[in-house]
Amino acid sequence: MGNCGTKEESAVVAAQSQVNSQLSQLASRNSFLEKKHNRSFSDLSDPSTPRNFADSRNIAIYTDVIAFSLFELETITKSFRTDYVLGEGGFGTVYKGYIDENVRIGLKSLPVAVKVLNKQGLQGHKEWLTEVNFLGQLRHPNLVKLIGYCCEDDHRLLVYEFMFRGSLENHLFRKTTSPLSWATRMMIALGAAKGLAFLHNADKPVIYRDFKTSNILLDTDYTAKLSDFGLAKAGPQGDETHVSTRVMGTYGYAAPEYVMTGHLTARSDVYSFGVVLLELLTGRKSIDKTRPSKEQSLVDWARPKLSDKRKLLQTIDPRLEGEYSPRAAQKACSLAYYCLSQNPKARPLMSDVVETLEPLQESSTTVNHRMQRRLTATSMGCRPTPAAKCPPPCTVPACRVR
Ligand SMILES: Nc1ncnc2c1ncn2[C@@H]1O[C@H](COP(=O)(O)OP(=O)(O)OP(=O)(O)O)[C@@H](O)[C@H]1O
Ligand SMILES: [Mg+2]
Repeated sequence: MGNCGTKEESAVVAAQSQVNSQLSQLASRNSFLEKKHNRSFSDLSDPSTPRNFADSRNIAIYTDVIAFSLFELETITKSFRTDYVLGEGGFGTVYKGYIDENVRIGLKSLPVAVKVLNKQGLQGHKEWLTEVNFLGQLRHPNLVKLIGYCCEDDHRLLVYEFMFRGSLENHLFRKTTSPLSWATRMMIALGAAKGLAFLHNADKPVIYRDFKTSNILLDTDYTAKLSDFGLAKAGPQGDETHVSTRVMGTYGYAAPEYVMTGHLTARSDVYSFGVVLLELLTGRKSIDKTRPSKEQSLVDWARPKLSDKRKLLQTIDPRLEGEYSPRAAQKACSLAYYCLSQNPKARPLMSDVVETLEPLQESSTTVNHRMQRRLTATSMGCRPTPAAKCPPPCTVPACRVR
């Protein structure tokens, strides 16, 4: 395979030699693992050196991102067993796993999600590398943490922190899950907005490009974290007003000017945020072919109502049964309306979005939130934390996402 990335080679080579110097120490520490798995030392001993150095020359060495061997990831997913599957997306299948000292000495015990590139799919090495290079260096409470990766022969895998409640998409649109409360929805909107604002305001701004409910993952306490950086793009620099790209993203979420011109700015993400906010408010999908034709596009259906005080409450998810204050609903609708402006310049910045959403977090959030947790736990039969070693077949319903 080709090269893996974009960092200066000298830094990588320096890190490589540092890693090499640690190998002899590790040889003795790992010798028992060698016996345990009946594998050669080279299969298990190396904590951070990508397996194929020629392949990984340009992967930036991020101090706290682990280079796993394929064998290690096979071990923790029981050879990618079907009952470990969490879900499936454009990149490939996602499995549940658990890392600890049995996998490698020094590893903290942690549930993880392992995403395996589907070699027959539309995504490939490029998206894998983009994800490693962006998520490897970005750390924020509202971005999913990249624990590690695997780059061995033509295998490409990503290892993330495990997000106990899976995707927002499943919570909003699955008929079997209890509806999210208003307070939880507002909290998720704020968390996701903070994640985007962080990316847009980074020293080297990043445009996320694929903001949608399936890419917002939820932790045990419903903290929202953005995942999937395979389409992320460095934002315009200096005098540039936009970056030109091949149009990518997801139908129903992409900003109209981006779809038409390929010109990408941070305001394209703001539009996608508006679509997700609308989904949170209405409980409707951005595109829903099962609805009457005039209602299939959520934005087309809702936008005229959002600016009309008499009509906007008609758009709010009836499953909320009026548990929100009309004033808060009005503010949230008005925010969605501005985010969805046809003119990108009329859209707010993500930092403004965060500011607008903050006062909409009710003082009763924690109480509501606890109620939500109890409700969901009871209706789904979940425990608040995943079982340390979820014995197959995994019995925690949130583990089975699709
Ligand atoms: N870190 C994680 N923790 C728990 N579940 C996860 C994690 N990452 C992904 N999943 C589950 O796997 C599913 C598939 O994720 P993936 O990102 O591959 O596809 P997608 O978001 O549904 O589609 P797309 O390819 O368009 O992004 C998610 O919907 C989620 O339920
Ligand atoms: Mg995704």
